[in-house]
Amino acid sequence: MLDGKIVCVPDAPATLTVLDYLRNELGRTGTKEGCAEGDCGACTVVLGELNRDARSISWRAINSCIRFLPTLDGKELVTVESLRAHPVQRAMVECHASQCGFCTPGFVMSLFALYQGDPAPKREGVVDCLSGNLCRCTGYRPIVEAGCRMAEYPAPAQWSRDDAQSPERVERLASIQRRGAAASLRYPGFHAPRSVDELAAVLASEPDAVILAGGTDIGLWVTKHLRQLPKIVYLGDVAELNEIRATPHGLRIGAAVPLSVAWPALVNAHPQLAEQARRFASPPVRNSGTLCGNIANGSPIGDSMPALIALGAHVELRHGARTRTLPLERFYLGYQKKDLARGELVVAVTVPPEEPGLMFASYKLAKRFDQDISGVCTAFAVMTHDGVVTEARLAFGGMAAVPRRAQNAEAELVGAPWGLEACEAAIRALAEDFAPLTDMRASSDYRLTCAGNLLRRFYLEHSDEPAPFRVTDLEPVAVT
Ligand code: FAD
Ligand code: FES
Ligand code: FES
Repeated sequence: MLDGKIVCVPDAPATLTVLDYLRNELGRTGTKEGCAEGDCGACTVVLGELNRDARSISWRAINSCIRFLPTLDGKELVTVESLRAHPVQRAMVECHASQCGFCTPGFVMSLFALYQGDPAPKREGVVDCLSGNLCRCTGYRPIVEAGCRMAEYPAPAQWSRDDAQSPERVERLASIQRRGAAASLRYPGFHAPRSVDELAAVLASEPDAVILAGGTDIGLWVTKHLRQLPKIVYLGDVAELNEIRATPHGLRIGAAVPLSVAWPALVNAHPQLAEQARRFASPPVRNSGTLCGNIANGSPIGDSMPALIALGAHVELRHGARTRTLPLERFYLGYQKKDLARGELVVAVTVPPEEPGLMFASYKLAKRFDQDISGVCTAFAVMTHDGVVTEARLAFGGMAAVPRRAQNAEAELVGAPWGLEACEAAIRALAEDFAPLTDMRASSDYRLTCAGNLLRRFYLEHSDEPAPFRVTDLEPVAVT
């Protein structure tokens, strides 16, 4: 659906990006290509998706450059051309927030998505919302101001919040939903099953097909590595995989749940993850990408795995009719090698609830605060009894070919009194656990030193030991 009209694109090439479709097929050139890898936000568009109650619509910004067109089946697309003197645009003009025509449409669309959720956001909400939009002339101040002031303009007739949730719009979107298990979208090169049974059966019979979730990794295989993907099986249309459920073993997060939904649920259960959630990519990437995609992709620098391993998460795998469960830490066998058979898929991840008395924290170290890949990412979970460590789970990303625990360091802690001495011994033992790589993000020495420093920080944050120095203790300095 685009501008209130149903658009049919029969047999759209499976890897045709939404951006290329808009620009090359529809001539909607307001949406720009900057990086073609989800980093700059020039290609931001907004997707409307019918909620499960079938009475309301979620409006989310996505990067059109790495999103494949067939995954838009049953959704409404909003591009910058869809807006006319919208409060977001008026605020951008009045705040002198546009200097070039290149990044501006992306900023407008990110703010438009924010407006649909919260038309009068606080500054922090605006800054977070724009963390996936780059302005190369660094004109951020007036753009953030525009975001903070968009509520000052009267709601427009079109694309006010009421209009975006109007019964007519909801009904129109409901009318294009495929119903029932037999309604899967299928044509040569692309298959989007509607049930887990169908999905598992298709993958078992076609084990060479690429499993597509949010495409925030796979999109780059196409736009940057120019890979051909002859057969794609998309799991985003399987309603059962779009669920988060509370189970006796913890929070079960299905394979199609986007990161922007999974992270808040995880933070609710483990508030210590709030900074990880905020710093994982950007809102448009989190709106497409999935938590299970992060796990299945298995990058050594993936950000969710250290925390999930430290918390003792399990993955649920399915091959045909067979299901098995595995502790996440046993899923990774070697660089890009997982305990995942051909044709097998990750159905869900289950994350245990908060354990009373468990000390837990997760830290990400990257060159930028927002939207950056980690040099080192860690998560520590330590339990004590009468001041003695009874359990330690120290998980690291960026330190080895796979995300994994530091067994030697853990052995130094378990059985020892929770104190600086045991912590320093564990830090020394990290050198036996890891021989990290040097690459463009960080040198081997830097990674090892930082891993130790993060463990020291964890200790200081979870003990009565006075911290020698905290940056947050500094008095703010007035900038003139
Ligand atoms: P997809 O791209 O759809 O798939 C990734 C891989 O996993 C493919 O091999 C696919 O076949 C496989 N796969 C997906 N789902 C399943 C399944 N259920 N079962 C079996 N195999 C499956 N990552 C971070 O960790 N931290 C970041 O800060 C971060 N920032 C990013 C910023 C940008 C700009 C971009 C483009 C990416 C970033 N990423 C980051 C990487 C990416 O967003 C994540 O890895 C994301 O979680 C991938 O999920 P997806 O659903 O998009 O996976
Ligand atoms: Fe840069 Fe899409 S073109 S994020
Ligand atoms: Fe477009 Fe700065 S205004 S790059």
